Amino acid sequence: MKLDTKLVHAGQEPDPVTGSIMPPIYMTSTYIQESPGEAKGYEYTRAGNPNFTILENLLASLEKGKYATVFSSGLGGLTALVSGLNPGDKVVALQGVYGGTFRLFNQVFSRYGIQFEQVKISDLEKALQSKPKYLLFETPTNPLLEIYDLEKFTQLAHKNGVEVVVDNTFATPFNQNPIDFGVDHVWHSTTKYIGGHSDVIGGVIITNDQKTKQALDFGRKTLGLNPSPFDAWLVTRGVKTLGARMRLHNENAQKIANYLAAHPKVSKVYYPGLPSHENHSIAKKQMRGFSGMVSAEFKLSLEETKKVISSFKYFSLAESLGGVESLVCHPATMTHASIPANIRNEIGLRDGLVRFSVGIEDPDDLIDDLRDAIK
Ligand SMILES: Cc1ncc(COP(=O)(O)O)c(C=O)c1O
Repeated sequence: MKLDTKLVHAGQEPDPVTGSIMPPIYMTSTYIQESPGEAKGYEYTRAGNPNFTILENLLASLEKGKYATVFSSGLGGLTALVSGLNPGDKVVALQGVYGGTFRLFNQVFSRYGIQFEQVKISDLEKALQSKPKYLLFETPTNPLLEIYDLEKFTQLAHKNGVEVVVDNTFATPFNQNPIDFGVDHVWHSTTKYIGGHSDVIGGVIITNDQKTKQALDFGRKTLGLNPSPFDAWLVTRGVKTLGARMRLHNENAQKIANYLAAHPKVSKVYYPGLPSHENHSIAKKQMRGFSGMVSAEFKLSLEETKKVISSFKYFSLAESLGGVESLVCHPATMTHASIPANIRNEIGLRDGLVRFSVGIEDPDDLIDDLRDAIK
């Protein structure tokens, strides 16, 4: 199956009992057993549910992996993965991971003896020699849309016997398949583009390794990280239009990035689809499209920036991303406010930086909205 066909059909059969074209929602906590210990594949929804299986088969197929496990949230998935580590084990991350990922390692897993080190590319080789269990990174990153070379860093990690986990939330399997480049485990917040409608929280990890799949299922069951069957169904429903949505997200974001790049009040635009992006050639090598996230540095003070982002008609001021509606966020006062100002400035998260999650509205309306708000 080609990707657009997989989105609609992979892992799904019409319901054998009624012929219902969409899978029913199995809102059940438990399942009747024919005799003690003899169930029909499911025993208790914390451990498994047909709506999880349907979504898992679909997402595994999209990411070209053998197995997937779905979770109550993206961070739930990471929690399950890391729960398989032991005190003294280490995870190395390339700079730019989602703030919640950093918080989970720094404020929770660290108390259980799991070490976490975030490094620059120049320090990666040395960090890998310390034999971490995983190398974790996002590409593109949030909010500066940096691109990391999937093939190069995976090869480097494997050379050192380290497994690679990539957070593919920003790119989506429509635009990028990390497994094509040798990555071991692919992680998503399905809350974002995969769900696509800002109406559900969810997560998934896809892998080719059976042991990891078993550990993830065990983690979900043991830590209680399962989604509700309805949420799994909602994500399945969202995936069917992933291709249609991503084409528009990709196109609209490119137009917005072009518009902002030519605007006199903007000093820098971060979008991997712009030839001026410092890793545009790597992005072109590993991505089929550049997704819907655009960040821009405005030549404005903090107060002026706040005024602009509060003046939009269609870009709603909100955290999160990847829904059909356009959102805007101000990293310095919202998602990254907990980072001290001097460090924020050092890593490029300045007061004039604005992040756009470009939706699927008409791009001319979105550009008019930008023009008016900046004026
Ligand atoms: C890139 C990225 N990864 C992971 C997460 C965590 O996902 P969730 O909010 O579904 O737990 C987020 C949430 O914003 C994210 O942006």
